[in-house]
Amino acid sequence: MRKCFSFDPEYINMNHGSYGSLPIPVAKALEPYYALAEGNPDLFHRFTSIDLIRDVRKRMAEFVGVAHADEVVFVPNASHGLNTILRSFIWEAEDIICSCSTSYNSISRTAQFISDLPPHPTHAIFTINFPTSHTEILQNWRSFLRSLNTTRAQAVGDLGRRSKIVAIVDSIISVPGALLPWEEMVKICKEEDVWSVIDAAHSVGQEQNLNLVEADPDFWVTNCHKWLFAKRGCGLLYVPMRNQHIIRASFPTSHAYLSPKDRQGPNFVEQFEWNGTIDFVPYISASCALDFREWLGGEEVINTYCHRIALEGGKRLAQILGTEIIDEHQGFQFTLNMVNVAVPFPPTMSSDAEIDMAFRKKLLIKKNIYPAFFYHNGKWWMRCSSQIWSQVEDFEVLGELVLIACKEIIAEFGDGSNLVENETKGDTE
Ligand SMILES: Cc1ncc(COP(=O)(O)O)c(C=O)c1O
Repeated sequence: MRKCFSFDPEYINMNHGSYGSLPIPVAKALEPYYALAEGNPDLFHRFTSIDLIRDVRKRMAEFVGVAHADEVVFVPNASHGLNTILRSFIWEAEDIICSCSTSYNSISRTAQFISDLPPHPTHAIFTINFPTSHTEILQNWRSFLRSLNTTRAQAVGDLGRRSKIVAIVDSIISVPGALLPWEEMVKICKEEDVWSVIDAAHSVGQEQNLNLVEADPDFWVTNCHKWLFAKRGCGLLYVPMRNQHIIRASFPTSHAYLSPKDRQGPNFVEQFEWNGTIDFVPYISASCALDFREWLGGEEVINTYCHRIALEGGKRLAQILGTEIIDEHQGFQFTLNMVNVAVPFPPTMSSDAEIDMAFRKKLLIKKNIYPAFFYHNGKWWMRCSSQIWSQVEDFEVLGELVLIACKEIIAEFGDGSNLVENETKGDTE
């Protein structure tokens, strides 16, 4: 399968999760569309691309289990889609915008930014610390939303009505790469009268049998350029009809925008068809990616393989390093195609970002291999992505190189024990 990709022969790609990887057959399938775009840019942008993208939207709607194709539109990426949603709400001071401690950083920063702007809604953060279990997360989630509801009840007096709570939930967290029980979390949101915004950047192509009608989130955004194999710059935004009035305008604003007072019907899809000139071929590429996936044998074949290698490779890596997989005591309930293995550092090791930079230099630049390193709940971990080209041997190569890199990093940065000693001394003085 490596032959289907343009990777440098010296590079072992263990980080598909960050940027995605474009298969050569998908790239080739896009050539005729680029020929059309450049052959007659006027015709392509005024007619052809709009018709083509309409068809791809229909296909993608079916793929993610959406009843009406006009409930999904393309956006350049998940950040764009999530910002479009979060900045569309008309915020009031009594409102609460809620993210998780494990939310993708730029998305929790978006929540903070919204809270920093007048009228300063509160930014509340739900803590998820691994190791944990789906059951524990769901229990804590309910208690957390109930506590926000108590706060909201106290604010009713000033406002004269209930304020809103908007919760951002990952379907699959970025780091640790972990599947959350997001459908149950959405149900709890409904029970607690909380808007659910699902960051599903890692979902399509990794999470099988998506059925958004059944899961029924208020908003959902995925990247097609990660696990689906579309060209970078292809995200999908799902807004059910009942919530389309919240998204008054696309960002940037489109020629098709109508003032809500002038609307005779929906004005959602038209706005996202053209709201600034970009390369529209990545949107079309979602369909070519689906063709490629069907040729490979379909979703189950692809994901069964990737999941098996994630588990077998992760276990082998943990064995080489003498460490553990983050959810090995919870039956691997968080693991799909990304596996999180502990880095063999002493528990005193610093959380400094310089450590990640040192791994980047030692592994990515010098050895052409790189998993995503991250510090979580007092420990360094690495997230390894498994894809159709991955083999257990890749994890073995990584393991040997990580062992060497860790020794060098401890020699360069220390193992943190000095720091702990100093802290202890400081306490006693
Ligand atoms: C959970 C999550 N949300 C959002 C994003 C942002 O994706 P993009 O940079 O394509 O907008 C990522 C990217 O890795 C992610 O992992």
